[in-house]
Amino acid sequence: MTTHKIALYPGDGIGQEVVDATVAVLDALQEKAGGFALETTRFPWGVDYYDDHGEIVADDYLDQLRGFDAILLGAVGYPARLPDHITLSPLVRIRQAYDLYACLRPAKLYRGVTSPLRASDSESNPIDMLVLRENSEGEYLPLGGRYKVGRQEEVAVQTAVHSRIGVERILRFGFDLARERRKHLTMVTKSNALRYGFVLWDEVLDVVRGDYPDVTTDKIHADAVAMDFVRRPEYFDVVVGSNLFGDLLTDLSGVITGGLGLAPSANIDPTREYPSVFEPVHGSAPDIHRQGVANPIACLLSAVMMLEWLGEKGPGATLQKAIEVTLADGCHTPDLGGSLKTVEVVSSVIERL
Ligand code: NAD
Ligand code: IPM
Ligand code: MN
Repeated sequence: MTTHKIALYPGDGIGQEVVDATVAVLDALQEKAGGFALETTRFPWGVDYYDDHGEIVADDYLDQLRGFDAILLGAVGYPARLPDHITLSPLVRIRQAYDLYACLRPAKLYRGVTSPLRASDSESNPIDMLVLRENSEGEYLPLGGRYKVGRQEEVAVQTAVHSRIGVERILRFGFDLARERRKHLTMVTKSNALRYGFVLWDEVLDVVRGDYPDVTTDKIHADAVAMDFVRRPEYFDVVVGSNLFGDLLTDLSGVITGGLGLAPSANIDPTREYPSVFEPVHGSAPDIHRQGVANPIACLLSAVMMLEWLGEKGPGATLQKAIEVTLADGCHTPDLGGSLKTVEVVSSVIERL
């Protein structure tokens, strides 16, 4: 029996609720599927930890997480209690310090789920795309500063860094994913306005695509991609974008496939030197915190991605199937128009494992 060491980092708000829900389902899955075990360790970091310790995470949190096989994260941030740039920085740091450069964010319209796009339903007009977000550099590097702070003439500089190696490796990762899917890759650019960074992206695409003649490619400016996610979402297969474009576009890909309550993500270090982080795309949703109505499915689908990454493809497929049947059977939380509580969706999934 293989045992995988999993760090649980529930974080804030509904992050804790969806991680609790996911642990309950994973416990049931271990019993039903057999052959593998997850040994979990829970870390209490977040705004509550801040109240007790004066910091969001332990000083050595990166060392503490280092030895795990994977990290399952709920969500971080609670703006009413602490500014976001403080609560969110440990998460951004994990991604950068562990070089989790590939952030996969699939968005699929499942049977039984209604898209807000009237023309889309899973049978006649399927949406099934995977946004691959560059996760280690780009617009998210903490490079910059503020000068003449608080004065009328204050300036702030925030520098984006796009490296040839960084762009090339995420594109190659995207091409490899496209080969396992519908063999089409769209690169998000903005080279019409951002003449250094995104012209580099364009040039690297032109080089790399030559190695993947079996994959069709195009590049579309980020604004037009946003429009096309609404106008013709079924067109997209693998969509590769920079850190910030990937962030923006995955709230959109999430909502057109039923909402953030269904949108999973995986922050991957393809070299496996560091533990990868699996987390829903959504945040801590303070507006529904403690109401017991958070949709646990985004976190459950992130757990499926985690199981696949750990090599547990059978149990991952079992969980994926149970989630799909749960959705198709109309077992929905209020964000999907249903009336079930988080715990009722958990029971529904467990019944269907
Ligand atoms: P959010 O994703 O938390 O919520 C946006 C909307 O979607 C809300 O109406 C919320 O109720 C709904 N929603 C989100 N997840 C849901 C779920 N599982 N079930 C049902 N409804 C759900 O975004 P926000 O309100 O902009 O941010 C809240 C906090 O979360 C902020 O501090 C923000 O910075 C942080 N945040 C964290 C992450 C992360 O941890 N990866 C991601 C995004 C936002
Ligand atoms: C996400 C979030 C994060 C991001 C925040 C929490 C820093 O919005 O994972 O999509 O911008 O990457
Ligand atoms: Mn986001």
